Amino acid sequence: MTDSLTVRDNRTGQEYDVPILDGTIKAADVGKIRTAEGEPGLAVYDPGFVNTASCRSAVTFIDGDKGILEYRGYPIEQLAEKSNFLEVAYLLVHGTLPTQAEHEAWVHEITYHTFVHENVKTFMQGFRYDAHPMGMLMASVGALSTFYPDARNISDADNRHMQIVRMIAKMPTLGAWAYRHAQGKPYVYPDNDLSYTANFLSMLFKMSESKFEADPRLVKALDVLFILHADHEQNCSTNAVRSVGSSQVDPYSAVSAGVGALFGPLHGGANEAVLRMLRRIGSKENIPAFIEGVKNGNEKLMGFGHRVYKNFDPRATIIKKACEDVFEVTGVNPLLAIAQELEKIALEDEYFIKRKLYPNVDFYSGLIYEAFQFPPEMFTVLFAIGRTPGWLAQWVELVQDKEQKIARPKQIYTGDRTLDFVPASERWA
Ligand code: CMC
Repeated sequence: MTDSLTVRDNRTGQEYDVPILDGTIKAADVGKIRTAEGEPGLAVYDPGFVNTASCRSAVTFIDGDKGILEYRGYPIEQLAEKSNFLEVAYLLVHGTLPTQAEHEAWVHEITYHTFVHENVKTFMQGFRYDAHPMGMLMASVGALSTFYPDARNISDADNRHMQIVRMIAKMPTLGAWAYRHAQGKPYVYPDNDLSYTANFLSMLFKMSESKFEADPRLVKALDVLFILHADHEQNCSTNAVRSVGSSQVDPYSAVSAGVGALFGPLHGGANEAVLRMLRRIGSKENIPAFIEGVKNGNEKLMGFGHRVYKNFDPRATIIKKACEDVFEVTGVNPLLAIAQELEKIALEDEYFIKRKLYPNVDFYSGLIYEAFQFPPEMFTVLFAIGRTPGWLAQWVELVQDKEQKIARPKQIYTGDRTLDFVPASERWA
């Protein structure tokens, strides 16, 4: 068996042998198929990149049919149970688990870069009282590029490391301040005695007490949620980071594009949309009518379906378990019963079975976040904090990958051609 594809172009009768490597053919080889010299080569039309590999990556492996998710080869279930978010961040960014010394140095570096320049505070205070925290996060991460102009030197490994540490360290500070802004409460500075996740909760919820100490079970649950969100190979926001990063811009600008992509309701914004949907359904009796509406195409069942997972989303399984741990501390969220019933009905319904639609990571995460008393607008911010190491790991891979080029897809032009321009004075006469 030869690893190649023989293509016969019926327009010309010519045959081409296209090499197959790693289960892919090169789009550039397809481009060699043309009707005549000088004519445009054949291109691939793939809106939404549903069947296009844009890079080689050693960061995250997903088998959507089997429900497998691995970071650098380690199964997500083991990482969620036995690791912690900063160790996972190290793993994603560096490719291997840290030694004890490396881990200590990493945690120390991240902890001591959690503070932001005071001008960031002034900048954030300029937002309106009702500004969406994702908009504030997107703007403030992008603005960090003005505080660290050295970040443009992306070819220097030490420099890249510095920006990675800064960004992972400062995301919780920016996210927490966006929340405090909406609440009209004073911003809380980082507490370097606390762990990454405990410090985040302190910056969110501390009031007049001298030290904020969150319940360790809640800290653990949020840390697990960060781990579950830490990377997901070439998803929409990672693709945005890579696409913008391919212009060789600084990583703050690239990640800010990722935050923008994550904001959308089909991506990270789904957790917020799930909660609003559950509230709107209101009670179990209203579920059948709601499902009918979904099947009639009036709306989507948010938190269901995935481009890659067609059997189950392993993250959703772990989150369901985390739900129980959190509700043990906070009491059960009444929306849980509606979510469970909705899931049960949908999983038995032909419409969802036929389309392989299952609960995804966002279906239950919103319920946990609400138990923490986060307003829905904050849910996607939590996703963004978790995803930051993944974006950065993918960005580092991108800037070191010799095969990468500036992202620039083709189009099929459908508009008019060679029209004669008539000046306004004549058109409107
Ligand atoms: N509710 C109802 N129908 C759905 C849903 C849904 N949630 N998701 C997909 N479908 C239908 C869709 O209408 C289509 O039906 P038909 O074949 O009759 O036209 C079929 O299923 C295939 O869907 P698709 O839109 O072609 O699938 P996709 O791979 O392009 O979209 C998705 C994936 C996640 C955007 C989509 O399933 C969706 O919109 N889900 C709801 C939003 C959501 O929960 N997003 C979070 C994703 S997980 C977190 C993350 O990684 O961001």
